[in-house]
Amino acid sequence: MNTIKHIRAREILASGGSPTVEVEVILENGTKGCASVSYGASAGSKEAFVLRDEDPKRYYGKGMLKAVANVNEKIAPLIIGHDPSDQRGIDKLMIDADGTENKKNFGANAILGVSMAVARAAALDANLELYQYLDSCYMLHATFDRLPKPMVVMVEGGVHADKSTDLQEYLISALHDDWPAKENVRMEMEIYEALKQNLKKIGVSTNVGNEGAFAPFGIASNEKPLEYLMEAITAAGYKPGSDAGLSIDAAASEFCAPNPSPQRASGSGVINNYLYQLKTEKRLLDAGHLLKMYSEWFKKYPIVTFEDGLSEFDWQNWPKLLAIAQTDTVRAESRTSPIKIVTDDLTVTNTKLLKKAIEMRAANAILIKLNQAGTVTETMDACILAKKNNFATIPSHRGGGETNDTFLVDLAVAIGAEWIKVGPTRGERVCKYNRLMKIEELLSTNHK
Ligand code: PGA
Ligand code: ZN
Repeated sequence: MNTIKHIRAREILASGGSPTVEVEVILENGTKGCASVSYGASAGSKEAFVLRDEDPKRYYGKGMLKAVANVNEKIAPLIIGHDPSDQRGIDKLMIDADGTENKKNFGANAILGVSMAVARAAALDANLELYQYLDSCYMLHATFDRLPKPMVVMVEGGVHADKSTDLQEYLISALHDDWPAKENVRMEMEIYEALKQNLKKIGVSTNVGNEGAFAPFGIASNEKPLEYLMEAITAAGYKPGSDAGLSIDAAASEFCAPNPSPQRASGSGVINNYLYQLKTEKRLLDAGHLLKMYSEWFKKYPIVTFEDGLSEFDWQNWPKLLAIAQTDTVRAESRTSPIKIVTDDLTVTNTKLLKKAIEMRAANAILIKLNQAGTVTETMDACILAKKNNFATIPSHRGGGETNDTFLVDLAVAIGAEWIKVGPTRGERVCKYNRLMKIEELLSTNHK
């Protein structure tokens, strides 16, 4: 058996300019798997723990030398000598040795780096592409006849930019399952270019935010980007609602605060325990009024997915949002399928929280982020549970610190995800689309 011989971690830089963790796993025969870990800017409170040094003399406290040392000194001795193809066993070993609910001890950044690098080494050792390896490792029985479609951030605000929208992301989601990935990618980039030209024409700034999407300084309202995206789709020569739909990630936890005088809104069943502050429009809305605004957008625009429309603490109102999205009367005429209500901060790629969302009928889709879970196995288990319960899966990049690692693309292909969510430009984002197009090419040459 070709066992794990050596594990080495190092501090590298992520896209935001702060450190993250890279891990190399080397097998007896010299096969080497390497992986790096991303982290968020608007992270959910229940995500697996990112261990930072908190040493103000280095990187303003954001160094990751403690996580690096945990890999080299604590995790490596546990894992060396193990069979790299026992991904589930290795992940469990690390979870048990850490011993905490959220990986606070070793740091999820340390554990995940090892977990991903082990999978890469095992895939290389088996002479398989990573997506093929994940398929066989987790017995997914993938057919690979439909690749995930790109969902591209076009306008960003919230904590990803200064003085842009309160809602965090406005996206274009490709809608044709039967188009080649490279055609869906081309459409997205043409819409991005059309959007840029339109914004320039009307004198709106085309500076970009964390994810490479436009972050229009001083934008008039949170609805404006929806109008811009509709114009851009048409200007690029595509049809809104049939070629390309609109998506939103409100990241509402970021503009939500407890309501000092909570009341049940009469008749609607909405519980107003939280207030939502839209600074752009100088409005403070209770959940009832926020849902009303969303419902109007659902009627007006071909919105296909809607992520974190409510705060991660406002669980009680999520079923209401799903019910609104599923009501026929709020569907735009051009819509081809019902709106997907997507959880991100609400479920943080965690099977326990996903189960709760399924039981409460709080949503019908889930965003998937490896570093929210903290191991490959827990991420895959969240995907498998979602699939079993007819939740759409959307593997995603991170806004805060992304790396050139493309693991999430192979994972998305292996699980047959509906979309992959990534920013439009910058190396750490476009490498994801490039990997998707490469996989398409590999599949066409019998790498199933
Ligand atoms: P983050 O945001 O990665 O910066 O937390 C992305 C998202 O909320 O989807
Ligand atoms: Zn999100």
